[in-house]
Amino acid sequence: MSQHWKFEDIDWSRFDSRKVNPSLLALIKAGSVIEHNGSDYGRYLKNVFKGDVALEKEIDAWVLDEVKHGKVLAEWIRFADPSFDFEERFNAYVTGFPINVEAEESIRGSRASELLTRCMIEIGTSTFYTVIKDGTEEPLLKQICSKIAADELRHYKLFYTHLQRYQAQEKLSFFKRFWVTFNRLNENQDDELPFAYYVANKGTTPYTRQHYTKVYSQAVYSLYGKKHVDQGMALFCKAIGVNPRGLLQKLMTFMVHNRMASRSAKYAADLGIS
Ligand SMILES: [Fe+2]
Ligand SMILES: [Fe+2]
Repeated sequence: MSQHWKFEDIDWSRFDSRKVNPSLLALIKAGSVIEHNGSDYGRYLKNVFKGDVALEKEIDAWVLDEVKHGKVLAEWIRFADPSFDFEERFNAYVTGFPINVEAEESIRGSRASELLTRCMIEIGTSTFYTVIKDGTEEPLLKQICSKIAADELRHYKLFYTHLQRYQAQEKLSFFKRFWVTFNRLNENQDDELPFAYYVANKGTTPYTRQHYTKVYSQAVYSLYGKKHVDQGMALFCKAIGVNPRGLLQKLMTFMVHNRMASRSAKYAADLGIS
């Protein structure tokens, strides 16, 4: 998997400071530190897939993509907010949220489960950048998010392709596949995203998961339209081995979209956002 675009391909002259949305800027700050942490995730994945030479090579290229995403986002933030100290914020993030890179086996239980989880993560990132691309009027950020979203979709396809190979050996049942993906959805209730948001934006109140989950989730969920959820659920169904345009996909789209809208409204009320 070679890189499809480089840092130098971005047309930085497109930046228009009048069109920067502070809420999107705060989300991009969180995204920049998470993406830049791709090299630690890469070390973990290479341990899990030790001996699978073809996949190890692809993981190396994948790491380069993710770190590039962090770098490009950090550069855009420097245009939008010159006071942002990326290195300082990134160090604070990795200190507060370390990854167990020395794990010898997948924390998901098996290689197929690990790949299924990676598919879920790439679905999350590809829809997230599509949502930001559609939600921003700032032309440079639009261009950047369009390129990153395309990369994330390629990453999904990469992990999906290798998942087929491991699934042929492990033969995870439908319920197991559903359970792994469901667990991953629940991990969104962990600290990774709210803590990144808190650290990257130098939160003024002490960190609590509950409060910053509300702040982060409200900012994100309010941006999702039905078409974004529809696309994400099609990829989800494909990953677990059911028809991407079947009944389950329609049902999941309806449920997830409604849940996001109701959570967004509830969190806005809790936080006093009108
Ligand atoms: Fe990424
Ligand atoms: Fe990715």
